[in-house]
This record gives sequence, structure tokens and C-alpha cells, in this order.
Amino acid sequence: MTNLNQLISLAALLLITGCNTGNQKNGSENTQDPTVANSSEEMLYRPNFHFTPQKNWMNDPNGMFFHNGYYHLYFQYHPGGNTWGPMHWGHAISKDMITWQEQPVALYPDTLGYIFSGSAVVDHHNTSGFGKDGKTPVVAIFTNHDPQKASDKKTDVETQGIAYSLDEGLTWTKYAENPVIENPGIRDFRDPKVRWDDQRKRWLMVLAAQNKTMFYVSGDLKKWEFLSDFGADKGSHAGVWECPDFFPIRVEGTSQTKWVLLVSINPGAPNGGSGTQYFVGDFDGTHFTPDAGFDRHLSEKHDYWLDFGRDNYAGVTWSDIPGSDGRRLFIGWMSNWDYANQVPTETWRSASTIARELKLHENADSYVLSSVPVKELNNYLEQKLKKEKITITENTELTNSKSVDLTRTHISFGIGDSKNKGFVFTLSNASGDTLRFGYDGTANDFHINRKQSGHHNFSDRFADRISTAPRSSKAGSLTGTILLDKTSVELFYDNGRTVMTEIFFPTSPFETLSVENINENILIDFIEVSQIGHNKKQ
Ligand code: FRU
Repeated sequence: MTNLNQLISLAALLLITGCNTGNQKNGSENTQDPTVANSSEEMLYRPNFHFTPQKNWMNDPNGMFFHNGYYHLYFQYHPGGNTWGPMHWGHAISKDMITWQEQPVALYPDTLGYIFSGSAVVDHHNTSGFGKDGKTPVVAIFTNHDPQKASDKKTDVETQGIAYSLDEGLTWTKYAENPVIENPGIRDFRDPKVRWDDQRKRWLMVLAAQNKTMFYVSGDLKKWEFLSDFGADKGSHAGVWECPDFFPIRVEGTSQTKWVLLVSINPGAPNGGSGTQYFVGDFDGTHFTPDAGFDRHLSEKHDYWLDFGRDNYAGVTWSDIPGSDGRRLFIGWMSNWDYANQVPTETWRSASTIARELKLHENADSYVLSSVPVKELNNYLEQKLKKEKITITENTELTNSKSVDLTRTHISFGIGDSKNKGFVFTLSNASGDTLRFGYDGTANDFHINRKQSGHHNFSDRFADRISTAPRSSKAGSLTGTILLDKTSVELFYDNGRTVMTEIFFPTSPFETLSVENINENILIDFIEVSQIGHNKKQ
């Protein structure tokens, strides 16, 4: 970049930053990385359409429920700093899971400890008795983590507690008789996810217990009875099990229902650090049993991952989505414990993934769980470019920032016969940063390469590898959706059957998107580039 160009970009940066309302980071307490401090991290890195707290540290999504037209999202939150610390539940609400409004902090640490991850349910029948004056209670079920016991190396560090809200999740009262589940002598005993088991008319809880999940049931959300456990000898065990979710889901194209168990694990993800595996099977009211074909694949060392990218962790699904909607809706934390505390933003740290719809498909003798962005995102798309039947014989520029703002972009594409072929998309800027992602038809896998994507020295684990994901679809033709924000790429291939989510921190915004073929020429059947507007279209 010439000096003049640099000056123009800097002036533009200052102008736009000046127009922003609130949230600017003035001054530069960032001692690690002067380039970031000197520009505006708001301008460069505050996501355009992913949720971030205004200030300070966030990790896992918690307590998500839908009620009276609003999607609620709580999250692990440290209001006192921009690194992990005493955990509270922050809160945000949305009418469509895309535009979020942050709310006051919902749950504060208490004498039993920090408030770790958990869930919330709308207690429509007032089984808990917390309802009053006809108001429906919302009940949160969470882990209390006692930091004193943790530093004293005790085992009974974590217990489960509940709280209720009579004003639709805004303010909460803790139950006076917490804990509702005492620690059974397991050091990591946390992240309760509760759902109403409509068939058996009782509450069903799954929680993570070190190297397995444990199931409990209750009639009133206060007294819990242990049912069974699952997983000590199944799936990946390279790290501790955390943040499970357990739900029935219809198998696409059939009338059959299966149960899916999501389990986050850290470390042990396929590309390092934190990741979310899943299991598909049946639940008889007491035990979860993996499906036979699924189990055979598992025992042949085939693990099942919801997302192969490095930055989708601790995600779970919304409770109380109306039956008339019927979707299974998910959101994850878009970071990885390998470097989450070090990423180069100071005002806030971490964003959520785009909200996603999960679907279960039969796949040979097993199943695959797909995820795609929720359809509500379509209400924000403004089409900028559509091309059909382009043969790629060399590196070809598809679009650049004169036509579309590449920091808020939705791209969908289809490629005919993909066998033995391959492609690489490259995002680049004049500072020389590149983000490369694509498909290798010979290896039959997808990849993301963020090694040269900008700032990465904040952690030696951030750019230490090229992430890969085996393709799960057997189809010859291939489709993909690419979602680009300022610091994230989310890739949904084959209608979400293989997904990769990763973050990056370019030194200036990406300006050009190009594509190149590897091995043979490729024919792009269609490519459609849309901008994600600031506001929902009316
Ligand atoms: C997952 C996790 C949970 C825990 C929370 C603490 O990222 O480790 O198991 O409840 O974060 O913030």
C-alpha cells in the first residue's frame, strides 16, 4: 500500500469511527499489539452482525429460551474485566436471533460461588410453584462454582442451583434452598441443560461430569433424581466434557425421531483446543443408547463434530421454541480456550456464532447433524452480484470492496462435479493479509488457512496449523454458504453437513475476494454475493 493510500484509509477510518455512537475505545491500554491500539478496535474488529457484549469478557451461551416473541440469550460474563474471571450471566434479547439488544446483568455470584453455565426453561404449568399472580415463571438451572474450594483443591467445587424470574428473564431470584443437586464427589460436575420431557411429563436434565454425561429427572425443578449416565467409554476423551445438550429431533425426510446428545470437549477438538462432538441414538426414558450404525462408526474411531473450525464451542439449543415453529435452534461461543483470553480486542472479548438451525439426516448406515444459519438472516440480505457458469482456470477476482463490504457478506455458490478437483477462496487486503479457505477434491476435505490472516502473535496456538474437515456428503456436486464478518468466517458446505467456523484479526479490512482452482479447471454453476444490511428489510 502506498503512503497516500494509507493516509486515505486512516482518514476514512477516523471519519467512520467518529460517526459511531458509543463504544469507542479511546486511548490505548493495549500493550501487546500497538497496531491494534493505534487504529480503532471498534472499527476494525467489532462484529457487524454477530453478538458481542458492549464491554468485557464473554464465553459460553447460557439459559437460552423463547418467550412472548423474544429470543433470550444469556452468556458467561465477567463484567469486571476483559479476561475470564468471576462468572455472571450477561443477557441479551432479540426478535430474530440476528439483531441483539444487551440487557442488564442477570445473575451474580453468591455465597455458593460463581454462576457457571446452565440453561433456562419456561415453566408453563408452574410445576415449580414459583409463579405468582398469574405470572409464568422462567426457571434458570446453573452451576455454582466455589472458587475457594477450587483453589483449596477440593472435589466438591461444583453444585447445581436454580433461580426464577417473573418478569420474562430480566430479573432473577435465587432459590433459597440451593443447591438443588449436591456434588457427588466429581470435580468437574457442571453445565445442566434442562428440557421438558413431554412424553413422560417431567423435567429431564443432562449435565457434564468430567468424562461422561449424567441424566437426572424432576417433577418440580427443585428435587432431582439421578437416572443414568452415558459416555465414559464413547466418543472423544482427550479433554474434559462440558456443556451438554440432549434433545429429540426428527430425521429429515422420515417420520422417525432420534435423540441427539451434544457434548463440548476441551481440549481434544479435531483441529486443536475446544470443540463440540455429538451422538445420535435412542432414549427410553432412563438410558441413552447410541444408534447401532452410529456406534459402529464411533468404535471405528470416527468422531462426530458439529463444526470442524476452531471457533465454535459450548453451543447449545434454545428452549421453548413453539411447536408450530418446530426448529432446533443453536448458538455457540465463537472462540477457543486455546487463545480466547489473548485475542486482540480489549473493550470486549469474544462474539457468538451466527444462530443456526440443526437438522438430522440419514447418512449411509449412520446419521449426520447439519447446521445452517437461521432463515431470519435472509431478511437482511441485499444481493450485490450474481454470476452463473464461470469456468475458473486461474486465480480470478470475484468481487472487491468497491462493490460489496466484505466485512458483512453472505456468499452462496454451487460447483458441479467436484471429484478430484478443488478450489481456494482468498480474502486479501493491501496490507498483505490473506485468509484462504476451500476444498481439496483429492483428499476430499475442506480447509481454512489463517496463518497469514493478520495479527496472530498474541498466542502461539492461533495460527499453528491449517484446519481441515473431512467432507461428510458423498454428492459429486457441492454447494456452500460463506458468512463473513470483520473477524469471522463461517462455512456451511453441502447444506451444513460439514461446517467450519474460524476467527481472524486482519491489520486492515479485507478488500478483495478471489477464487482459484487446484488440479483441474472448475465450473462454478452459480455464485451469489449479498451484503448483510445494517437493518432488517421491512
Ligand atoms: C465451557 C466452560 C463451562 C463452564 C464455563 C465457565 O467453556 O468451561 O464448562 O461452566 O465455561 O465459564
